[in-house]
Amino acid sequence: MQKLVIKGGNALWGEILLRGAKNSALPILAASLLCSGETVLENCPRLTDVFAALRILTHTGCRCSFEEHTVTIHAENIVRSEIPEQLMQEMRSSIVFLGALLGRTGACQVYYPGGCELGPRPIDMHLDALSKMGVCIQRHEGRLDCTAPCGLKGARIHLRFPSVGATENIMLAAVLAKGETVLCNAAREPEICDLAEFLRRSGACISGDGESTIRIKGVKKLGGCAYRVMPDRIAGLTYLCAAAATGGTIRLRGTNGTEMENVLPVLEQSGCRVDRAEDSVYLHAPKRLKSCFRLKTMPHPGFPTDIQPVIMAAMTTAEGTSVFEENIFENRYRHVDGLVQMGADICVSGRTAVVSGVKELYGAHAAATDLRSGAALVVAGLCAAGTTEVRQICHIDRGYEKIEEVLKGAGADIARVQQ
Ligand code: UD1
Repeated sequence: MQKLVIKGGNALWGEILLRGAKNSALPILAASLLCSGETVLENCPRLTDVFAALRILTHTGCRCSFEEHTVTIHAENIVRSEIPEQLMQEMRSSIVFLGALLGRTGACQVYYPGGCELGPRPIDMHLDALSKMGVCIQRHEGRLDCTAPCGLKGARIHLRFPSVGATENIMLAAVLAKGETVLCNAAREPEICDLAEFLRRSGACISGDGESTIRIKGVKKLGGCAYRVMPDRIAGLTYLCAAAATGGTIRLRGTNGTEMENVLPVLEQSGCRVDRAEDSVYLHAPKRLKSCFRLKTMPHPGFPTDIQPVIMAAMTTAEGTSVFEENIFENRYRHVDGLVQMGADICVSGRTAVVSGVKELYGAHAAATDLRSGAALVVAGLCAAGTTEVRQICHIDRGYEKIEEVLKGAGADIARVQQ
């Protein structure tokens, strides 16, 4: 077991290189299963969730290699269409392999996925959509046996909520299906567009990604391609928030900020100077941030739920009161206890959290309860007086590649130590 030990108080400065997005790499890795040729994925982050996805691919018969930040996958010979429970439980995103395996083999056996720290994470929309596409689904104690006796066929599907995972699963199942799939009220996240672009370059026929209605005409075969994963907007914004909270100045390389346009204005309103360049985003923070008036998390292009915990950590020491409204997940205030332990003044009532800025946080011992709550504790620890210890950092390692090295490179006093 490892933990992060942070001595707070150093303003971040210098450059941080942003890697590829986890939430984009994972569905694209699943999509590689649909390709009969070679897939080369560049800018792939070295994260525990990515390694879990590679274990699933290898189990099905793919040959995978991972050198530096490039993954190469050969999926010519798929020998298994079942994924063992243990592999499915390693991460929540394992569910996107359902659509990919069905698309490739017409049958699969999977288990309900793991990673449910944010409250109930149903997959009813995924399963309803697949049923409409001709898949018979039998449930046996947590296992799903899926077959498409007459092959997958295109369908008209309306999602009651623009779920990211359901949109991805439907796209993966539809690209090789017979006929056209029309997906209404689809998720519009940038990672959906990245998946669509990878599939198009591999030979798929998709239009409308980034909008509410996605149209997919099934093709006979996908070839595979070389593709560069988009920058990780959530990791990037986490580092920008860390710089903002510590009164720092950083240049974030590897992005021009396009995929962060729905959040950067919040940092500007809190008093930061933000400049976008062709290959970087520059942030210069004031000594003390101003609070943000009211932030409501919403599906894209609304304010992303994944960055809510991290912005909240930055707002704990801002001047004034900030109000947050969480509308995506039931259980997304699990970072609040840790922040309060560090001296933050936060009042939660239902889906609303009111943060009254305090002058200073102080170091404490806290545990990450999920990926972004862990990131929030790290951001708070960087600006707190004294030493903060963050345990359960396996959650953080799911989404941030060597977070301590990135932050140390920007002047933070942070170390990973064995417990
Ligand atoms: C993805 C992201 C995650 C992000 C989330 C919302 C990945 C790997 N993860 O998760 O980081 O926080 O989008 O932007 O990309 N729901 C149902 N039934 C379903 C599916 C979802 O009720 O069949 C509900 C969920 O419980 C949740 C909401 O819809 O309340 C949004 O979930 P969804 O968009 O599916 O999130 P994920 O794809 O799991």
